[in-house]
Amino acid sequence: MDGNGRWARRRGLSRHEGHRRGKDSVRAVVEAARELGIPYLTLFAFTTENWQRPTTEVSFLMSLLHRYLLTETKRLMKRDVRVVAVGDVERLPPRVRDALRQTIETTKSNRSMTLAMALSYGGRQDIVSAARKIARAAAAGEIDPETIDEHMIAASLDTGDIPDPDLWIRTSGEIRISNCFLFQLAYTELYFTETLWPDFRERELLTALAAYQARERRYGAIADPADQRLRAQN
Ligand code: FPP
Repeated sequence: MDGNGRWARRRGLSRHEGHRRGKDSVRAVVEAARELGIPYLTLFAFTTENWQRPTTEVSFLMSLLHRYLLTETKRLMKRDVRVVAVGDVERLPPRVRDALRQTIETTKSNRSMTLAMALSYGGRQDIVSAARKIARAAAAGEIDPETIDEHMIAASLDTGDIPDPDLWIRTSGEIRISNCFLFQLAYTELYFTETLWPDFRERELLTALAAYQARERRYGAIADPADQRLRAQN
């Protein structure tokens, strides 16, 4: 969700205003994804690196997040959306952490969509902590190092309970991953758009999904001739 600051600057507004508008896009995209029947949606709301921003901006983002959790839980319940968090949530201010725990607890039985919020998340940090977990288990004799495979690593990541993404969207014209999911993106389709996050709404989501549908996913193999015939017909 990139480009809140630029969206605001182009309009002579404060960065805070950009983030405020970005929060409206969050609601729009979450609800559109739910309507479309997308089973998992992850939002990169705050990365490990975002802590380096000026204190006033970090505090503002934390209060937006706090407000989002307090006000949106009811809407998420109505839509049967389950919220989970990935990242070092212990670093969040106590009131945000408490609100997050409350939302996770309240929505835990919802099944129509899982909304994963990446908060204080870093892809490298996630891999490091998974490596520590596995190393501890090996040192304690609970696992044989020879049995470590990609499934065990995937399961030890913060995202252990959610599938790898099919599609990854980055807004605002930046063409990089920026320490987002690293292990998990191995075969994900990447989609980059110039649209700034506050302007990214249902229509832009549909455009991204249409681009995804036109991709051919081969996972390193060669195309299935039956698939190619179908594609040619459509
Ligand atoms: C990146 O834009 C955006 C963020 C670091 C924060 C994302 C936050 C929101 C979308 C609003 C609140 C979120 C929730 C989940 C309620 P940027 O500030 O880096 O933009 P710039 O690159 O144009 O300066």
